[in-house]
Amino acid sequence: MAANYNNAARFYDGLSRVVYGKALVEAQVYLLRYIAPNSNILIVGGGTGWILEEIALIHPSGLHITYVEASDKMLALSQQRKVGNNQVIYINEAIEDVTGLNNFDVIITPFLFDNFTPEKLETVFAHLHPLLKPKGLWLNTDFQLTGQWWQNVLLKSMLLFFKVLCGVESSKLPDFEKQFELYSYQVISNTTFFGEFIAAKAYRKTN
Ligand SMILES: C[S@@+](CC[C@H](N)C(=O)[O-])C[C@H]1O[C@@H](n2cnc3c(N)ncnc32)[C@H](O)[C@@H]1O
Repeated sequence: MAANYNNAARFYDGLSRVVYGKALVEAQVYLLRYIAPNSNILIVGGGTGWILEEIALIHPSGLHITYVEASDKMLALSQQRKVGNNQVIYINEAIEDVTGLNNFDVIITPFLFDNFTPEKLETVFAHLHPLLKPKGLWLNTDFQLTGQWWQNVLLKSMLLFFKVLCGVESSKLPDFEKQFELYSYQVISNTTFFGEFIAAKAYRKTN
């Protein structure tokens, strides 16, 4: 069964700030500098939607954003965000079930892939890849393990917590780096936060 973040919607942002301070926000905001004016953007798994307000601070108008979020409670919170004069289309579905999308300049996947089993990751990646224009940008933030013991402890506890509460399927990080390599994406920016546990990467589509 797919994860459902409805049970966490009310306190997700507060809890993540307690554990990570501003790191989760800073990592995602860091990548927003790569968005060009008037871009057509796909955001998948944006949670409560605070990222829409951060985007509007940089681009108050001109963007076309498609916002796909599987949890209806998360989506309802996102719909209350101040998006400036940007056009936002909200879709309450799992991204792998959404058809009819294409031609994006930018895809944003913020802490999405850590939810997935390796099989689900492959399915979602194969679904998203054709939606990005040639030379388009994929902005991905997620956890990574760089050999420090506490990272593994924190990751396992987090995944267990969200498994019990929301039915998250994964119990370890799936290899999303490998997917970007398999599809020949070029890394154009790589920045880490929270003792290297969080990686913010911008990729360019090459084919
Ligand atoms: C770990 S939360 C991250 C939320 C937000 N990006 C943040 O950093 O605050 C993952 C989000 O992805 C959504 N999600 C999980 N699987 C999804 C899917 N297949 N399609 C769309 N959204 C999904 C969940 O409902 C949840 O809101």
